[in-house]
Amino acid sequence: MAIFDKFKPLAEAREFLARSGVESIHVTMDKVVSATEAVVAGQPMILAGTNNYLGLTFNPDCIEAACRAARELGTGTTGSRVANGTYAGHLTLEKELADFFNRRGVIVFSTGYVANLGMLSTLAAAGDVFVIDADCHASIYDGCRLSGADIIRFRHNDAQNLDTRLRRLGEKAADALVIVEGIYSMLGDTAPLADIAAVTSSCGAYLVVDEAHSLGVSGPTGRGVAEAAGVEDKVDFIIGTFSKSLGSIGGFCASNHAELDLIRYANRPYMFTASPSPSIIASTRKALEIIRTQPQLRDRLWDNARRLYARLRSSGYELGPEPSPVIAVRLTRLESAFAIWKGLLARGVYVNLVLPPATPEGNALLRCSVSAGHTSDQIDKIGDAFAGLRESLKTGV
Ligand SMILES: Cc1ncc(COP(=O)(O)O)c(C=O)c1O
Repeated sequence: MAIFDKFKPLAEAREFLARSGVESIHVTMDKVVSATEAVVAGQPMILAGTNNYLGLTFNPDCIEAACRAARELGTGTTGSRVANGTYAGHLTLEKELADFFNRRGVIVFSTGYVANLGMLSTLAAAGDVFVIDADCHASIYDGCRLSGADIIRFRHNDAQNLDTRLRRLGEKAADALVIVEGIYSMLGDTAPLADIAAVTSSCGAYLVVDEAHSLGVSGPTGRGVAEAAGVEDKVDFIIGTFSKSLGSIGGFCASNHAELDLIRYANRPYMFTASPSPSIIASTRKALEIIRTQPQLRDRLWDNARRLYARLRSSGYELGPEPSPVIAVRLTRLESAFAIWKGLLARGVYVNLVLPPATPEGNALLRCSVSAGHTSDQIDKIGDAFAGLRESLKTGV
């Protein structure tokens, strides 16, 4: 029985949620109607809590590519990349991603989580050091832990603190791996990558940037925050996912290091799982082409993000530090977070409810995410729903 004791705190947390009238912070999508609309418990819902930044999940060309690939190549590869699971499409996508990022090589993984797990656990070993932003995603922490290397955290988005941590390592700093994200998934803030890259290269350390939330979103051509900051040449490894702006599932690492190809063969999370199915690869390739050829989607996304950010701010909500496709409404009282989240659902708006300890600074968050697929009318409806709830719950929000 003792093995189950560790789940007691979880059971208590779930009971607390249920007592607060929140059965589960997950909802079930009965039907998904478009990139921005679904039916939940029989009720039409505007989706404002996905990572579907460019709205490509319902793009007709992506859907057609996926259907054609399934018809021609089957529903799954049923094997690992290093056995029967490498099809021509996997290699073509790797080449297209390498061209997009101007990198010598790319490895495609089965998810973004697995990309971090595989790359980080393989790049370092016991005796090596990771220096990572404290707010990094769980997949980064898990990859670092699996490697057996030491993990040193620096204060979120604080290049000065990174500098202090690296200098303390002395000569070892030259072999350290510094890891940051582009746009952070919880507060929607952007890494000060020019400063971070300058500090990292001044110590000779390696820089890894997870552009999960910034691919297709930031930079003049959508390559991410490193492109926007003009420091791509200082980034050793770009990690990313297909599950956000590319609208599918999968992950990748791009690099100019010649050893990248060798890393495949030492990379257990790459070798010991099945490769992405042909339909996933086909729709991802089409979505990448759309990122390259339709910059207007990025403009539309940022227009929507600025519009919602301004509206929520003028309603009096405390938000993440800057307008971004991820807009975090920060609430110090859990009760307020529950009440507003439920109120939003009742008004036909779905956002993510994120609770401590998964949140920075211990606040509850209503994490909104904006899509190029949202119409101005939908953005206004989301804003109206928040504004109405703020009025009705004025005390203690
Ligand atoms: C920064 C970051 N990296 C990696 C991942 C994992 O990506 P995936 O969901 O595609 O496995 C996420 C997912 O939210 C993320 O936010």
